[in-house]
Amino acid sequence: MEKKWWKEAFGYQIYPRSFNDSNNDGVGDLRGIIEKLDYLSDLGINLIWICPFYKSPMDDNGYDVSDYYDIDPLFGNLDDCKELIEKAHSKGIRIIADLVLNHTSDEHPWFVEAKSSNDNQYRDFYIWQSSKDEKEPNNWASFFGGSAWKLEETTGEYFMKIFSDKMPDLNWENSKMREEMYKMANWWLDLGIDGFRVDAVAHIARDTSFKDSTMELYNGYAPDWQKFSNLPDVHKHLKEFNEKVLANRDVMTVGEVGGGATPKQALEYVSDQAKEFNMVFNFDHNHCYTPLEGDHNQTKILELKKTFNKWQTGLQGKGWNALYWLNHDQPRLLSRYGHQGKYRLESAKMLANVMYFMWGTPFIYNGEEIGMTNYPFKEMSDFNDVAIHNSLKFALAEGITESEYVKDQAENTRDNARTPMQWDDSENGGFSAKAPILKVNPNYKEVNVKSQVNDENSILSYYKQVISLRTKSEYKDLICYGLYEQLNQSSKYIYSYQRSLNGQKLISISNMDVKAHSIKFNHQIEKLLLSNYEDLKIENNRLYLKPYESIVAIIK
Ligand code: GLC
Repeated sequence: MEKKWWKEAFGYQIYPRSFNDSNNDGVGDLRGIIEKLDYLSDLGINLIWICPFYKSPMDDNGYDVSDYYDIDPLFGNLDDCKELIEKAHSKGIRIIADLVLNHTSDEHPWFVEAKSSNDNQYRDFYIWQSSKDEKEPNNWASFFGGSAWKLEETTGEYFMKIFSDKMPDLNWENSKMREEMYKMANWWLDLGIDGFRVDAVAHIARDTSFKDSTMELYNGYAPDWQKFSNLPDVHKHLKEFNEKVLANRDVMTVGEVGGGATPKQALEYVSDQAKEFNMVFNFDHNHCYTPLEGDHNQTKILELKKTFNKWQTGLQGKGWNALYWLNHDQPRLLSRYGHQGKYRLESAKMLANVMYFMWGTPFIYNGEEIGMTNYPFKEMSDFNDVAIHNSLKFALAEGITESEYVKDQAENTRDNARTPMQWDDSENGGFSAKAPILKVNPNYKEVNVKSQVNDENSILSYYKQVISLRTKSEYKDLICYGLYEQLNQSSKYIYSYQRSLNGQKLISISNMDVKAHSIKFNHQIEKLLLSNYEDLKIENNRLYLKPYESIVAIIK
């Protein structure tokens, strides 16, 4: 297997709005990231993915871009960005930007031009259809609730928008638009950016027959994502993108391929022959749990194990893989797959052992390393996400009450991941002197960086060990390149796997359940690398694991 820096990287995702506010206006910014580079370097990561920082009306917190060549004043300016890149590089940290290719903001000059007349030179940069029977062109749903189309009054036609009303989809069939995108991506790479996380890229080709979906309607529209996900033309465009932007550069790319993509489809992006991206993020492991009861939910452990195994073995030897537990679109990890009470520490450490010794490039999400949890959302006005506000009216129309909707969203909303990073126990968690728009989780007095940084037993210290094993230790190659094999496949509670390379072997064994369980254990431990309890009980070839107990070890 060919060695590459991005195969050995340990990534850290930053949601800039929530990370650190250097000018105390209540919104995180690029200088705020610069201030925390020492923290990140100490954590040991060597790659940062920053969510969009471009100029934007912020309908979707920056994913609605109105100028790809500039930084939104909320986040700083281009000089801050250059300084960030330079300072990160001097610490051995690379930076990838979030590249939004599927849509722009409706305030982007292209769209402002495009909507002005049917024959404007930018009209065809977007996707237009006329009304059918005085209704939207078809019954396709948008990801953010309602129709995937919006009427544009001046010309009387509908434009496609699979996210919010303010995010018109770009037409990738238009070669001028594609050239503009390549130019822009090259400009960022020339500036020193080390690659891209490519947003919503599975959707850049659509079923252009634009026929109604036969799928059952939900809230009046068909959530038939197949009409605009992972279609063959996506690959036609990405091969060109690779040729015009990536080829001959030592940069990395990770594409967001969304729900529903199979490992086989993923390989169409990342296989050695595909020549498109280095790796993709899939969403499959984000749904293997039941609603929260008290301090924890019931993880659907067997389902989760199956999912991990499917992706590990599906891509191994054929392409590369990306590993993550959560991102800015998912609730907090401890609230989903861990325990927020008595077993906070143990479950957080267990979850790190489960994910980060698998095969692929890991990405942790800001706040994960200190065990941040979901926010106690109580009413609609607590939420910021455009998707939640958009979807309420459709939920009400289906007979769901507002309080039921709020309860469900509170547990599942992506706003959970977007509350400010908790740096210390001072006001606003040390994030900003000004009260931020996305409220700080009230548990910031207990859960924060300052309280963990000098505590050997903390979640933060544990993450440092995990990261260092992958990036610096003598087992680095084994963990980055070793063959993955699942062990104890049928165990309902314990997820375990082995990695092996050149005669070296590592095992990661985790009880993912709140009760104690045991498994057969015939291995001989040569070196215990990590464990989340003080003692380890192995008797008569059985390993006895306490609630959420987990180990990583080198075996003979
Ligand atoms: C991706 C992003 C998400 C955003 C959407 C539209 O899924 O991760 O945050 O809302 O694309 O850009």
